[in-house]
Amino acid sequence: MDKIVVEGGGRLVGRIPISGAKNAALPLLAAALLPTGPSTFKNVPQLADVRTMGKLLRMLGWTVDEGGKSKTDLTIAPPTGKKKPKLEAPYDLVKTMRASVLVLGPLVARYGRARVSLPGGCAIGARPIDQHLKGLQALGATVTLDHGYVEVTAKRLKGATIVLDMPTVTGCENLIMAAALAKGRTVIENAAREPEVEELATVLNKMGAKIKGAGSPLITIEGVDELLPIEHAIMPDRIEAGTFAVAAAMTKGDVLLDGARPEHLEAVIAKLRASGVTVAAEAGGVRVRSNGDLTAVDIITQPHPGFPTDMQAQFMVMACIAKGQSVIREMIFENRYMHVPELGRMGADIHIDGRVAVVKGGMKLTGASVMATDLRASASLILAGLVASGKTEVLRVYHLDRGYEAIEKKLKAVGAKIKRARQ
Ligand code: EPU
Repeated sequence: MDKIVVEGGGRLVGRIPISGAKNAALPLLAAALLPTGPSTFKNVPQLADVRTMGKLLRMLGWTVDEGGKSKTDLTIAPPTGKKKPKLEAPYDLVKTMRASVLVLGPLVARYGRARVSLPGGCAIGARPIDQHLKGLQALGATVTLDHGYVEVTAKRLKGATIVLDMPTVTGCENLIMAAALAKGRTVIENAAREPEVEELATVLNKMGAKIKGAGSPLITIEGVDELLPIEHAIMPDRIEAGTFAVAAAMTKGDVLLDGARPEHLEAVIAKLRASGVTVAAEAGGVRVRSNGDLTAVDIITQPHPGFPTDMQAQFMVMACIAKGQSVIREMIFENRYMHVPELGRMGADIHIDGRVAVVKGGMKLTGASVMATDLRASASLILAGLVASGKTEVLRVYHLDRGYEAIEKKLKAVGAKIKRARQ
């Protein structure tokens, strides 16, 4: 296995290209199960999670062809001739990537049946899928649980009104994909408003779906009988952009986040500005500059357009070196503080009480060997390494490879002393 080694102290200056968004790519690849022919996606990020989704689609019987003009092109084609799709996502894949559950909606909508291993608890919390299932039942599906698998069947789904208990992102995506081929009108209330949900609706509409209101809490879907193949370039990753923005802020940097969309990053930009960081929308991206004079800010994670939970760990590291005390409240996942003990080993002073973390600022971090059990926590440890004295080794790099494309190369290109090595 690999590790990332960072020497602290480098100032980040230059341009960082932002890759396609992981959390847009995963539902879009699942949506490729819906059309009648091959669909092509461009700007697909080269990530372990995307490869896992590709593997799942292949197991279901689809062809996933990376042989396009660019290595970021991916063409996904349905089984042809006598080949029948296999309608099951096995435990081995679901346990490595919870987003595998995104095949549930499209498979039951198009083929009338899907069997998916139930995702268990994961490192950042229990993360149930009850809302996905409740919504599918409202659309007329029969849901049965057996031997750790959930089986969903329906002759043809029927439009219905679904009121979600909370605005779940992948839950909403599953239901939009299911409702796209249902008979009649579906209304989703308390829908997730994340840009990735909007992106999925845009792509489904390109395929011929009739979806209105994505990006708002009320989504209306008029079901259609068939969806057609499309070509689409995936939106930039707002969390990757946000992570590099914090890196620039912490290192007295001056970085252009090439391709980043400021409208996807409003809550993050507001908090960066409140910390004393200069952030400006520029042609083709977002520029982040800092003189290193950072002040503490309080953060509450919320569904979009609130502050994203996927940026909580990164802002916590910035809070360690900012002036003053920051209070962070993690309201989405009950157990998303795994980076805290690791940061403690680097000299951070953070106290956790349930969902609240109190971070003492003005700390001098020192390099150490650290590891984390989730993606964003791992990214936060790299950020800590960028400003720590001496050498930091971030172990269990596979978490990073799930969601950051070539993070060490991108940071090195703007001046970080960082490399990948064998663990
Ligand atoms: N929830 C339920 N029941 C459900 C669904 C969700 O109780 O049926 C709860 C969850 O336990 C959580 C809250 O609702 O407390 C919100 O979870 P959500 O379903 O929105 O999360 P998700 O769809 O599983 C996506 C992203 C996550 C991101 C969250 C929140 C993808 C593939 N994953 O997860 O991304 O943190 O939304 O924005 O889109 C990451 O990229 O590192 C990552 C974890």
